[in-house]
Amino acid sequence: MMNADELMNHARAVAAKAYAPYSRFQVGCALVTAEGGLYTGCNVENASYGLTICAERNAIFHAVAQEGQGMRIASLAVIALGHEFPPCGACRQVISEFGAPQLPVSFLQNGFLTTKTLAELLPATFQL
Ligand code: THU
Repeated sequence: MMNADELMNHARAVAAKAYAPYSRFQVGCALVTAEGGLYTGCNVENASYGLTICAERNAIFHAVAQEGQGMRIASLAVIALGHEFPPCGACRQVISEFGAPQLPVSFLQNGFLTTKTLAELLPATFQL
């Protein structure tokens, strides 16, 4: 089982690959699935700004493409090079599609790696 520090190292590595010429905000995400798969994603921006995809959704969609519709996230880490931030609201909702309320989500806060549950980050998820 990969710990949060190791997962964050994978997220940091993929952040360097981000395509972010507009915001210069390079984000990387790494996740481990219930099956034990490791998937990563970076943000990919576009000249038509709204078409930008966040690192978290890139990693999650990659995981679905590899493992199929039963893919479940066991843990997730996200980091931006030179910045601190938790996942954006849109990505929290997408994480909730594939993760339990207790899912650990790691990010940097005040210089330290912090881990919160998905339920703490998104208490009221939308579900059909
Ligand atoms: N971004 C992410 O990749 N994940 C987030 O949770 C927040 C924002 C990206 C989108 C855009 O390329 C850049 O960061 C600035 O918003």
